[in-house]
Amino acid sequence: MKSYSFKTEVQSCGVKYFKSICLSLLTTGILFVSPAIADSDVQKGDEIYEINCLGCHMPDGKGDQGVGMYPALANNIKLSSVSATVEVVTNGLNGMPSFREYLTDDEILEVVNYIRINFGNNFKDIAQLTDIPKNN
Ligand code: HEC
Repeated sequence: MKSYSFKTEVQSCGVKYFKSICLSLLTTGILFVSPAIADSDVQKGDEIYEINCLGCHMPDGKGDQGVGMYPALANNIKLSSVSATVEVVTNGLNGMPSFREYLTDDEILEVVNYIRINFGNNFKDIAQLTDIPKNN
């Protein structure tokens, strides 16, 4: 009988201990997980490219000629200019749509930085918020 009551005491203590660990895990979880969730709101460059650009500039940035002329982004020296690249994505140019309304500034930067270091391009200077042209 004695050993039994001892056992339950340990068990209930164990439950309390577990609960408090559980609670502190929850609290730290909330503290540390929520910024991560906020970060992932901004899509990454490759995803932004696939959703918004691939249809015209094609996989691997090879471009396409058909109904229209979609320049290749692959091995494209024009992308060496951060400001020109940000400008064309933000404000569009002829058949190239303006993405100002569709992407956030951060997403424009993500995709510009992505295309400038992929598809055979190797322009390492990073586009920054100050490169985004102000609204016309
Ligand atoms: C509806 C088709 C279409 C979509 C979608 C599109 N583009 Fe374009 N893009 C074009 C066309 C057409 C041009 C050529 C514009 C011109 O020079 O007259 C162009 C030009 C460009 C240029 C300049 C290249 C050069 O050689 O002058 C860049 C950089 C570019 N696009 C990036 C992007 C990015 C990044 C996305 C996605 C966020 C995107 N484009 C989505 C059609 C498109």
